[in-house]
This record gives sequence, structure tokens and C-alpha cells, in this order.
Amino acid sequence: MNGGTIAADASGKSHSELVDEKLVRTYFMTALLFLTISMLAGLLMALQLIRHNPLRGIEYFSPGRWRMIHTNAVAYGFLANGFLGCLHWAIPRLTLQPVFSRQLSWLIYAAWQFVVGATAVGLILGEAQGLEWGETPVWIDPVAQLGLLLVAINFMTPIARMKGPIYVSLWYFLAAFVWTFLTYAMGNFKPQYFVGGTSAGAVGGLFIHDLVGLFVTPMGWGLMYYFVPILLKKPIWSHGLSLVGFWGLAFFYPLQGIHHFLYTPIPMFLQYGAVVSTIAVELVVTTVVINFFGTLAGNPGAVKTNLPIRWFYTGMIYYFLTCLQCSFQVTLTFQKIIHFTDWVVGHAHMVMFGVFSMWIMGIMIYLYPRMLHRPWASQRLLEWHYWLSAVGVGFMAADLTLLGVFQGWSWAALEPWDASVDFSRPFWILRVIAGLAMFAGLLAFLENIRLTTKGALAAARSRSAASAD
Ligand code: HEM
Repeated sequence: MNGGTIAADASGKSHSELVDEKLVRTYFMTALLFLTISMLAGLLMALQLIRHNPLRGIEYFSPGRWRMIHTNAVAYGFLANGFLGCLHWAIPRLTLQPVFSRQLSWLIYAAWQFVVGATAVGLILGEAQGLEWGETPVWIDPVAQLGLLLVAINFMTPIARMKGPIYVSLWYFLAAFVWTFLTYAMGNFKPQYFVGGTSAGAVGGLFIHDLVGLFVTPMGWGLMYYFVPILLKKPIWSHGLSLVGFWGLAFFYPLQGIHHFLYTPIPMFLQYGAVVSTIAVELVVTTVVINFFGTLAGNPGAVKTNLPIRWFYTGMIYYFLTCLQCSFQVTLTFQKIIHFTDWVVGHAHMVMFGVFSMWIMGIMIYLYPRMLHRPWASQRLLEWHYWLSAVGVGFMAADLTLLGVFQGWSWAALEPWDASVDFSRPFWILRVIAGLAMFAGLLAFLENIRLTTKGALAAARSRSAASAD
């Protein structure tokens, strides 16, 4: 397996020839900026739901619009930027080849920020495309599609040029480049221009799910297969299980999309197919999680002493829980109760924040001080960041999951809608508290970054003053 310093030394190329650290840092900072915006938008929406909207009456800040900013900023602004930053580190070090072109990397960076920023502006102006999770205004879609093509070219070139066997992380990345391109095209153009009605619903369901399963998931697992063995200084437990995980995902994931639209006029054989393949993917996921815990075996203390490892494994536990939850919620029996309830919102936060954001945070915590050649300024702030985030999201997910069951029972009993809104209120207040905890965790991290960067700049200044003397 390739990884870390050893790989870079063996290549004959220096680390700086392989990795553009400035770009990695820039991606990370941009990702955190979007996460801040997204969380503020989430808080705005959450406050609206407890009738405390601080910006009431201002159309541009209406929570309906900011809900879309919340989800779009998190998916395309935080997760995509975070992953792109990590890939600019991991792919050159794994392949021992630089990306196709550094200029292209910077161009993609600028174009991507344009896409995400313009999407936000379009949404604020009320120009949303009426597609769930595909709200980007129509004129941005072709630009985003072109951006995805350029990303694929930039990263697939070093993989094509490398010699030797392809490590499992690279299979995931290769697949993700192809799948994301196809998924985006399918979800944004097909329902807009080519199919309507129930068929558009089916395509939309596939899009929502594939965005998570064929873009975010392979990126996330690919990065875990790279960083975990490096940090634990040992190879992955079972190469065979990593094969099962990859091919299982590739086979079962694309069949699941219709589970978002159970009990609709979409033909029942497709709905049943989606249910069965969803349950199948949970089994596949279990093999992946077992593989990572097998790798940790013999060194469980790392979860305590090594902070990035702690973030990674917390994310894996949340992953397992999300998938377990999913294999129940996908059944028709559960759907009767939990469809349209806050259960689904709890599930979305557990997977998007509890899993993938945790992994990106862990990678940032590992790489940022390495890039500055300086340890984190404050261990205490790092601990606050971890605990507020991990407990906050767990609390939010538990709160909304439980609420979802109560809402479902209330609706099934044909109680008036208002009754469910009334008893939801205390749960929604708890959601605000959990959200504030997560946001406070983020602020602790941002402050730590500021202090560490300040220290690094001061050290650089005194070094250059000493060399001038
Ligand atoms: C400050 C913390 C946060 C708060 C207060 C918050 C609040 C909310 C609210 C109120 C909604 C709309 C729920 C509804 O329409 O009923 C929502 C949706 C959503 N949020 Fe957050 N959120 C936060 C952080 C995050 C983070 C960090 C992520 C991802 C990394 C995220 C991902 C999502 C997703 C995917 C949805 C859509 C759920 C669905 O449509 O079912 N949120 N959030």
C-alpha cells in the first residue's frame, strides 16, 4: 500500500512537486466558510420552526430560501470543497504523480466557488429549479457539469499515469469521478427537460440518493482507506473485505433511489427492488465497518490519543447507526409511520454531519498542522470542537428520530395537524440547542485555526529576521 512520506520519498519527486499545499489549505478554508454559512442558515430555519425568526419579513432571508442554501452550501460548498482539498493531497501521494495541471486545479477551484456562490445568489433571488436537491438555477447546471468533467480529467490523469496495482482508495475515487458526472447530469437535466410526472419523481429519487451514495460515499471511504492505515501505521485488515465493500456499493447503490418514493404510483416491482437493495447495501456497509474495526484491533487506545482517528471512528459508528436505521426505515411497515416526518431530517443530519463531515474534520485536523509545520495552538479547543460536534449531532439525530415516530403516530391516528405541530415544539427547541452546540464546536475550531496560523506566521517572520541578521 502506498501512503505518507514513504511513498513520496520512493517516487523521486519531492512532496512539493506532488502536492500544492496552498491549494489544499485554500480548499479547506473555503469549505469551512461555507459550513459556517450553512450552519447559520440551518439555525435560521430551526428558529423559524419555533416561531422565533429574527429576520421575519425580509424576503431575501425567508427561511424557505435559506433552507435550500443550507443544504446546497453544505453539499457543494462544504463537502465538495473539503473532498477536493483532501483529494489534492491524497491522489498525488498515492499515485506518485502530480495532478494533470496545477493551473487547471486553480481554475476548477475558482469555477467551483462561482457555481456555489451563484447558486446561493440565485436561491436568494428566488430562482430555484423545482427539483428536490437539484435546486441550482438552470443556467448554472451546464457550468457545474463542465466543472465535474474538468475535475475528472485533472485527477484521473495521475491515476492513468501511475505504475503498479491500484490501491482501493483509487478505485473509489475513479468510480466517484465517473458516477458523479453521470449522476449530476441525470438529476439536473432529465427531470427538467426530458421526463415529467412520476418518471421525473423516480429520477429525482435516484438523484438524491446517488448524490450521497455515488459521490459522497466513495469519496469518504476512499479517503478513510488512505488515511486510517497511515495514521495507525499498519495495512488495512482485509483486502478481500475491501473488495466486497467496493463492488457491493457499485452493485446495490444505484438500485435504491426509489426508496424515497415508496407508496407512490411508481410500479411496485421497482419499489420492492429498492427496498431489497437498500437492505443489501446495509450488509455490505457492515463488512466495511468490520474491516476498519479489524484494522483498529490491537491499538484501540488510538481512539483516545489520536484525535483524527477519533473523528474517523466516531464517523464510522454514526455510519453504522445510520445504515442500521436505514434498513428499518426503508421497509413499507416503517414508511407508513415515518414518511414526511422529522425522522428523515434526523437521519440526514446523522449521515451528512455525523459521518462525512466528521471524516473531513479529522483529515483537516491531521493535515493542517502538517502543512504549517506547527502543532495545533490549543488541544483544549480541539477537544471542545470534537465533543460539541459529536454530542451535538447525536443529540439532534436522537431528538428528531423520536419526534418523527410521534409525528407519524399522530398523523396515522388522524389527529389534527396542529396537534403534531404543538407537540413538536419542545423537540424543535432541543434541535436549536443541539445546533448551537455544533456551531459552537465549529467556532472553537475556527479560533484554533486562527491561533495556529498566527503562531506559524510569527515563527516564519522571526526565522526570516534571524536569517537576515
Ligand atoms: C447548526 C446546525 C444545524 C441546524 C440548526 C440545522 C437545521 C436544519 C433544519 C431546520 C432543516 C430543515 C428541516 C425541515 O425542513 O423540516 C435542515 C435540513 C437539513 N440539514 Fe441541517 N442543520 C444544521 C447543520 C447541518 C449540517 C452540518 C449538515 C450537513 C453536514 C446538515 C444537513 C442537512 C440536510 C441534508 C437537510 C435536509 C434534510 C431533509 O430534506 O430531509 N445540517 N437542517
